[in-house]
Amino acid sequence: MSTIKVAILGFGTVGEGVYRILNEKKNEIKLQTGYTIEISSIVVRDVTKNRIETPGIKITDSIQDVFADPDIDLIFEAIIGEEPAFAYLSKAISKGINVITANKAMFAKHGPALIKQAENQNVQIGFEATTAGGVPIIRTLKNLLQADRVQRIQGILNGTSNFILTKMRQDNVPFEVALEEAQANGFAEADPSDDIGGKDAFRKLMILSDLAFGRQPIWEDIQINGIDKIHSDDVSVATEKGLRYRHIADISIDENGIPSGSVGPVLIGPEHPLYGVDGVDNAIIVDTEYLGALTLIGPGAGMYPTASAMISDFLHIVGKREKVLIPS
Ligand code: HSE
Repeated sequence: MSTIKVAILGFGTVGEGVYRILNEKKNEIKLQTGYTIEISSIVVRDVTKNRIETPGIKITDSIQDVFADPDIDLIFEAIIGEEPAFAYLSKAISKGINVITANKAMFAKHGPALIKQAENQNVQIGFEATTAGGVPIIRTLKNLLQADRVQRIQGILNGTSNFILTKMRQDNVPFEVALEEAQANGFAEADPSDDIGGKDAFRKLMILSDLAFGRQPIWEDIQINGIDKIHSDDVSVATEKGLRYRHIADISIDENGIPSGSVGPVLIGPEHPLYGVDGVDNAIIVDTEYLGALTLIGPGAGMYPTASAMISDFLHIVGKREKVLIPS
């Protein structure tokens, strides 16, 4: 039986989730795809750090260990930040290695270049996990765009922010306590400033803009606000009035095809479709020319939801490969 050899870059919450699912679902994947998955190596920054046991897998701090192996078929990338992730993925693609990324900071900036490079190299690139965790918004948009035109996307795109706002409202806890809980649950980044400052949602919005409109707005033109200036008192006053704070990223396109948008907290009432979206859930409302409004809701952060999006990309890529290998 054929083997697919993979490497995992980054072993934080998401990288570990990928490892766990690949292990836990080894037999199902084999049955479904006909392939045995071999994780050859995991690339980390610090090899001495305490981690879960990964028997038989090389833990290395050198990407060269991955590139030196001519049999690597696919890389799962879950590194934080633009570099060295972009350099690694660009090199991987140039070597004909398929890539799946969860790295939103890198992909918001370099996604278009990587997609073009992958097309030129006839290599597959998956980025479902960059946006809205386990919510399959990327695949949904790709499907919609085959026969429709997206006009506007509004969403809750940061699980940490929504979790904090929900905790402050439901449990009356101060901002800092709610943030600590989000970190303990693996929702917030190690440095949560971009979560609570709005940049994380902004980057995801840029990824969606690229996909939906074929372009991004000028970044500096987008007003980005976070939830970091919302106090418990603000939340209490809003609740008394029957309103809720939601951190909403919003982008639409004008008649000339120019996208514009905003990212920040908004007070909404019960009539708003995002009013009932609580906890770590993300939600995305896609307005299209023919379908109208479609809303997707689901877990937007955390180990298994995000890693499951990467595995879904993986199965999709393996399925494509099957078609190439075994023409009907
Ligand atoms: N820190 C991110 C969030 C993780 O809270 O949404 C998922 O991208």
